[in-house]
Amino acid sequence: MTQSPAILFVCLGNICRSPLAEGALRAAAGEVGLDLHVDSAGTGHWHVGNPPDERAQAVALRHGVDISGLRARQVEEADFTRFTHIYALDSENLRNLRMLSPFDASAELGLLLDAVPGRTGQAVADPYYGGDEGFLETWRDVTAAAAALVARFRA
Ligand code: 4NP
Repeated sequence: MTQSPAILFVCLGNICRSPLAEGALRAAAGEVGLDLHVDSAGTGHWHVGNPPDERAQAVALRHGVDISGLRARQVEEADFTRFTHIYALDSENLRNLRMLSPFDASAELGLLLDAVPGRTGQAVADPYYGGDEGFLETWRDVTAAAAALVARFRA
């Protein structure tokens, strides 16, 4: 049985970067009719149940993507088997994912920007403590990654 791709994006709080990645990939996949299951989560617990940061909601909406309905949740063990691919938004979260990964994990773990030519090893910078420009930079990073993932999963 081949499982259709199920993709989880993981950052720290699940209120800034990973919900933007989720919104960007869902939109990019929708545009070409690509069937992907997309979700996001955080390694931290502080914002569980909260909607995305207002600044994240605003930058997405300015680009035609509504992420207001998303709610933060924490990564759980079952994610490592329910998802085929788990992408961390930075290397610290990737390290934490590797530590949380159970013995029977089947998901492929990776760094999100490794999918983007020329960006290997780079982090999607945490915009939480900065201003609106940081959120625009996050949006640009996650849309570049979403385009690369759509190309990868269509192939
Ligand atoms: P995210 O951003 O990991 O992109 O959702 C953050 C959100 C909250 C915090 C840190 C980063 N925080 O420390 O509460």
